[in-house]
Amino acid sequence: MNSENSPSNRAFPALIRNWVSLTGLVIMAASLFAFILLFVIDSLAHSSNPYVGVLTYLVAPTFTTIGLVLTLLGLWLARRSLLKVSPKPVSLVIDLSQQRHRRILGWFIVASLTFLLITAVGSYHSYHFTESVTFCGEACHTVMKPEKVTYEHSSHARVACAECHIGPGASWFVKSKLSGLHQVYAVAANIYPRPVPTPIKNLRPAQDTCEQCHWPEKFSGNVVRTYRHFLSNKENTEYSVRLLLRVGGGNPLQHHEGGIHWHINNHVEYIATDAQRLKIPWVRYVGEDGKMVEYRATGFTNQVNEAAIRRMDCMDCHNRPSHRYQKPNDAVDLALASGKIDPALPEIRAKATKLLVQEYATEAEALAKIATELKAQYPNDPRIESAIPALQEVYQRNFFPEMKASWKNYPEHIGHKDWLGCFRCHDDKHTSADGQHKIKFTDCNTCHVILAQGSAKDLEKLDGAGQPFKHPEEEYDPAYFCNDCHTGGP
Ligand code: HEC
Ligand code: HEC
Ligand code: HEC
Ligand code: HEC
Ligand code: HEC
Ligand code: HEC
Repeated sequence: MNSENSPSNRAFPALIRNWVSLTGLVIMAASLFAFILLFVIDSLAHSSNPYVGVLTYLVAPTFTTIGLVLTLLGLWLARRSLLKVSPKPVSLVIDLSQQRHRRILGWFIVASLTFLLITAVGSYHSYHFTESVTFCGEACHTVMKPEKVTYEHSSHARVACAECHIGPGASWFVKSKLSGLHQVYAVAANIYPRPVPTPIKNLRPAQDTCEQCHWPEKFSGNVVRTYRHFLSNKENTEYSVRLLLRVGGGNPLQHHEGGIHWHINNHVEYIATDAQRLKIPWVRYVGEDGKMVEYRATGFTNQVNEAAIRRMDCMDCHNRPSHRYQKPNDAVDLALASGKIDPALPEIRAKATKLLVQEYATEAEALAKIATELKAQYPNDPRIESAIPALQEVYQRNFFPEMKASWKNYPEHIGHKDWLGCFRCHDDKHTSADGQHKIKFTDCNTCHVILAQGSAKDLEKLDGAGQPFKHPEEEYDPAYFCNDCHTGGP
């Protein structure tokens, strides 16, 4: 009998000759070809295009996998129906003495190795691609535009999105990809929320992200920072504050030093009763000496639900380290201080702020309105020509009407002027059961010392011992919190 026609020899090609397997093979071949072509295009291009990336590293491999599954499924179905006809199992016999068998085996090995190599290169690149800023920030560009733009202007513009949002390790990688699948679906189906909600539930603890670069033990000493402001009067009078911020307290060996990063060392925990963590009625901490102190806000007598307790970490103060939506007042103040907008233009601070906070449907509408309104309010004044693009730039960097993203929707916890921030706990109303301990705000010098305040000239008169705060407005009443009056807008 001619060996070429033996049943065992024909079994494999016969099995594969079914519609399911053949469709699978065609899909596999086409997607592999597409992958190689796209891979070459992506490698040769100077800047990576998110859509080529999505096609190369996500869509093409998906089709290759579908093809492979179909091919195997077809084989399995064909074998099952063959077994029904002749119950004797078809066995595969490879006879290396036959030239045809050697040739088929040779091709099989070459094809498998090529396939494995392409898959290895492909999955390596797919991994890197889905971790890249291009993928996170650009692939779905309307949705991520606010985060991407603010990120590009932050101190972390060179830190990849994944370094904060995913961090190292395989399990977080898988978790993030699973939630990513849902997000891709939400974007495709156009059911994603606007603005994108924060805080992010299940965000990875800061020890695994921020603390990979910032070492809390190294926080010590003070930093000097100047907060420049202008008043909303006709002269746009400058009113700035120069603070010595006590950013120490992170080093357990120097506890006596105290300071703002004390919270990291001392295991502070709290419960928030709202989604944005603005209302904090219960706080406790375990000090380095092991003593536990528990505080309750006046009127909070509820039983404490242990499951709702959160350990305070970097993000409870630095919740906008890379997506900071400047408040309209602060953004205009910065433009005035840097001279991009001329502070000699009468009443420009008030007028510019007012234009920023109006409701617009789209960015294009806002930019057009800013230009026409400023031109109308300062007719024939050449100084307004440079102020218009400066204010438009402020708008583009901090306001995203299409995604409803601006300072209003994303509270910032770092200070206490426009949002409660530190005063969520430091409000003089959180007291321990024995009344011995209070989380205070009235002693302003716990956190910072005011070195100088007032006009640019006053800022030069530094006062090492610190000076009491002189509020620019007469009506200021220290019994109120700053954010009872200050909201970031006019
Ligand atoms: C320095 C660290 C860091 C980097 C880098 C970073 N993020 Fe974030 N991101 C955060 C933190 C912190 C939050 C707020 C977390 C919270 O409050 O739960 C956040 C929030 C978000 C949110 C939720 C909406 C919002 O604005 O609060 C999105 C979406 C987001 N980031 C996307 C990105 C993208 C896309 C990139 C890269 C272009 C990126 N992030 C880079 C730290 C970072
Ligand atoms: C991959 C390293 C890296 C990671 C991760 C990282 N940072 Fe940074 N961060 C830096 C570098 C570098 C700078 C200094 C940038 C500069 O001076 O311009 C910086 C600056 C800062 C500053 C001071 C500048 C400012 O904007 O006020 C703060 C605060 C800060 N980071 C907080 C965080 C927090 C919170 C996280 C976690 C959500 C984080 N960082 C994650 C590298 C990192
Ligand atoms: C979740 C509640 C909470 C928040 C929010 C909070 N703190 Fe505290 N803070 C505490 C507690 C509790 C203490 C201990 C109070 C005491 O002395 O009894 C403390 C103590 C301090 C101390 C004194 C540390 C020392 O040297 O002993 C400083 C400084 C401080 N906080 C600064 C800040 C700043 C700045 C912010 C905002 C960026 C802030 N805190 C936000 C709970 C909080
Ligand atoms: C209690 C609130 C609070 C916590 C918790 C906190 N910080 Fe800060 N941090 C501040 C404040 C306030 C400043 C100074 C003001 C500012 O930067 O706007 C600051 C300053 C910094 C700076 C800049 C210091 C410098 O020398 O310029 C870095 C970096 C930083 N923090 C990182 C972190 C990291 C990382 C964590 C978590 C391990 C953390 N912080 C936890 C409140 C906090
Ligand atoms: C719990 C700590 C804490 C206490 C108490 C505190 N501050 Fe502050 N304050 C801060 C921090 C942190 C910042 C810096 C915020 C930032 O970097 O955006 C700040 C900023 C300021 C600024 C500059 C704000 C700006 O944007 O121009 C002023 C003015 C100020 N504080 C006044 C006071 C006065 C007055 C008191 C006492 C009634 C007080 N602070 C009590 C933590 C505190
Ligand atoms: C009773 C209301 C009220 C309270 C409370 C209040 N302010 Fe003000 N503040 C004002 C008004 C009104 C102005 C003038 C605003 C203008 O000209 O645009 C002003 C102006 C300022 C300015 C300069 C201009 C600006 O907009 O930045 C600073 C800085 C300032 N306040 C800081 C604070 C701080 C810090 C606190 C809390 C310790 C505080 N204020 C509490 C009403 C208040």
